[in-house]
This record gives sequence, C-alpha cells and structure tokens, in this order.
Amino acid sequence: MGKKSSKWYKSHINDEFVKLANKENWRSRAVFKLKEIDEKYNLIRENSNILDLGCAPGGWSQYASQKLKNINITAVDLLDMEKIPNVNFVQSDISDFAEKLEKNGNFKKIDLVMSDIAPNISGIESADLPAMLNLADMVFDIAINNLSESGSLLIKLFQGKGTDDYLKDVKSNFEKVKLIKPKASKSNSREIYMLATNLKNKPKMQGQ
Ligand SMILES: C[S@@+](CC[C@H](N)C(=O)[O-])C[C@H]1O[C@@H](n2cnc3c(N)ncnc32)[C@H](O)[C@@H]1O
Repeated sequence: MGKKSSKWYKSHINDEFVKLANKENWRSRAVFKLKEIDEKYNLIRENSNILDLGCAPGGWSQYASQKLKNINITAVDLLDMEKIPNVNFVQSDISDFAEKLEKNGNFKKIDLVMSDIAPNISGIESADLPAMLNLADMVFDIAINNLSESGSLLIKLFQGKGTDDYLKDVKSNFEKVKLIKPKASKSNSREIYMLATNLKNKPKMQGQ
C-alpha cells in the first residue's frame, strides 16, 4: 500500500461513521447523511415513488427500504449492486437511463429523486467541478421531467465555480431550495447537499 492510500485507509477505519455503519450493518457511511436529512425533512414517506441515482453500494436505498415497506424504489448506478428488498436496481449510466425514460414517456409521478452521484475524483478542481456539474445537470433534467408537483430533489453538489448558476436554475424551477451539510459530510470536503421541494409548473432555464 502506498503512503497516500495507507493514510486514507487509516482515517477511513477510524472514522466514527464508518464504525457505526459496520456496527449497524449499513452498506455505506453515506447512509447517515440521508438519515439526518430525512429525520429533519421527512423525505421518505408512505406510498412514495423514489428514484435513487448513483445508488451503489446501496446505503441510501437500504435506508429507504428499511424505513417503509410500502414504497417503490428504483435505483441506478454504473456499478453493480447487491439486491435490496423492494428495490428495482438498474445498472446503467444515468444519461442512458434518462434517454430510456424519455422514450418510455417518463415516470411523471416520482415523489423523491435522491442523488448521491459523484464522478471519480482526480483531486484536480478544474476537472472535478465540471464533471460533478455535468452529472448534476443530468440529475436536474431527470427530476424536472419525472417529479410530481409536490416532489422533491435531494442532490449532492460540490461548492465552487458554476454551483451558484446551478442553484439559480434550480430556484427558478422549485418553490423552496435549501443547502444542507450533514454531520457525516466531512468538514474539509466541498460536498454539500441541496434539497429542492415543490416543483413549479413550468420548468424554466436561466435566460428564459
Ligand atoms: C458516493 S457513491 C453513492 C453512495 C450511495 N448513496 C450509498 O449510500 O451507498 C456515488 C456513486 O455514483 C455512481 N456514479 C457516478 N457516475 C455515474 C453515472 N454517470 N451514472 C450512474 N452512476 C454513476 C458511482 O458508480 C458511485 O457508486
């Protein structure tokens, strides 16, 4: 193991959320970010249709599926994911998945689009930020084409160049937009979560 990866490994195994995830049998430490947000905003609701984008290894879907039995979850990732009860897993790039949805007339009645998608991080900001925004744009399109009027979008973003413009687009399409930094999100990371609720009737892009 190289110096850098052994440093990462040490901080990973000593991380309180990694320890808790192992103890409680969650598939990822990321589960605690969704759990904290859900406990505050009650996003996972009875009878809801949920789309989990960038779902692997499955912590978020696992949390939703354990919280309520009467919900439908569709979960998408490039990587394979082990089965979770009540979760319809689709192994696909989200851009191909979005095309398929469009061809099939879209779902229309999704109550929650939740996206923890992140590109492979290179550590080079000028590459990582645009890659993240590109994914976030795709998630936004999927959300406005498939959410019900009272639907919500929860998405991970990186703070930096381009993020303010992205937020402006979201604010012109949703009634309420909040930025959230859950405790399990590392303080030295640019990661932040955005929760947008109540889709406005007509999707608008900036400049329209
Ligand atoms: C941080 S992980 C998600 C963790 C997950 N929320 C959990 O709790 O287990 C981000 C995921 O995004 C996926 N991803 C990245 N780009 C993608 C793309 N274009 N289409 C589908 N999935 C993608 C990665 O494969 C990775 O599994």
